[in-house]
Amino acid sequence: MQVIAFISGKGGVGKTTLAANVAIALAREGKRVLLIDLDVQNALRLHLAMDPLDIAGIVRDGISPTSMFRSPFGVKFIPFGIALKTELEEFESVLKQHPAWLLDRIAALGKQAPDFVVLDTPPGSSVFLQQALSAAHLALGVVLADAASFSTIPRLFSLANEYTRARHDFYGLKLLVNQFSDQSHLCVQVRAALQADYGHSLVPMAVRCAEEAAEALAFEQPVLEYDSACGASQDIVRLARWLIKWSASAGFGVHQDLSLLR
Ligand SMILES: Nc1ncnc2c1ncn2[C@@H]1O[C@H](COP(=O)(O)OP(=O)(O)OP(=O)(O)O)[C@@H](O)[C@H]1O
Ligand SMILES: [Mg+2]
Repeated sequence: MQVIAFISGKGGVGKTTLAANVAIALAREGKRVLLIDLDVQNALRLHLAMDPLDIAGIVRDGISPTSMFRSPFGVKFIPFGIALKTELEEFESVLKQHPAWLLDRIAALGKQAPDFVVLDTPPGSSVFLQQALSAAHLALGVVLADAASFSTIPRLFSLANEYTRARHDFYGLKLLVNQFSDQSHLCVQVRAALQADYGHSLVPMAVRCAEEAAEALAFEQPVLEYDSACGASQDIVRLARWLIKWSASAGFGVHQDLSLLR
């Protein structure tokens, strides 16, 4: 089992879009996938054509059969859930006291463990980012090829270092450029700068900017379903295949018990 966290320093860079669609692409490649929303915005459900407002979610029920949905796109999904302010504060306080809360619950899936757990997180530093990084084998730091995203990268690396310092099974933080356009001079230049400064930490592909990604969200569908031929969908499928290759070479058995890796 591999745990992959989508993280970012800056908001609105495409973490939720990529988490949902990469999870679906992995499922289409025959992998068993559990997608977990760690963001109080509850936005992942919008990409899965689901309205899980009537269920408990991770905030109330943790990782359990009652918090898990089977989405129409072949992935199991745990929404964040709707919580009262006091419930949210209580949940955050439990997470602060137990930095391995999520890791332990994923490990407890035992025989029910999927091949991939995909985590969506809120932007920037938070207790949810800390939990995600404490459970992840790989973090994908989503960045836009622009100056604002570029400036958040050092902080993202320092957060990843801080939260994964004690982990021997953390493969690293890789930067993933989203909404890339080779028609944009700025995009091309920023990507070249990323290559120069962070080449060894750059995912060897970018996800193209495609209007269909935003349109799909308006129809509450994953872009892979809405338009499988658009540039973003093609790149997401390539990204999923790259992750499968990575997982095979990362040295962790697909069904390995996480608790043995701690
Ligand atoms: N490759 C892409 N091409 C075009 N639009 C995209 C692409 N990826 C994401 N978007 C659009 O960018 C916007 C932000 O995406 P998303 O909500 O996934 O970002 P986020 O990082 O999860 O945001 P937040 O930090 O608020 O959680 C959405 O309108 C989405 O449709
Ligand atoms: Mg999001």
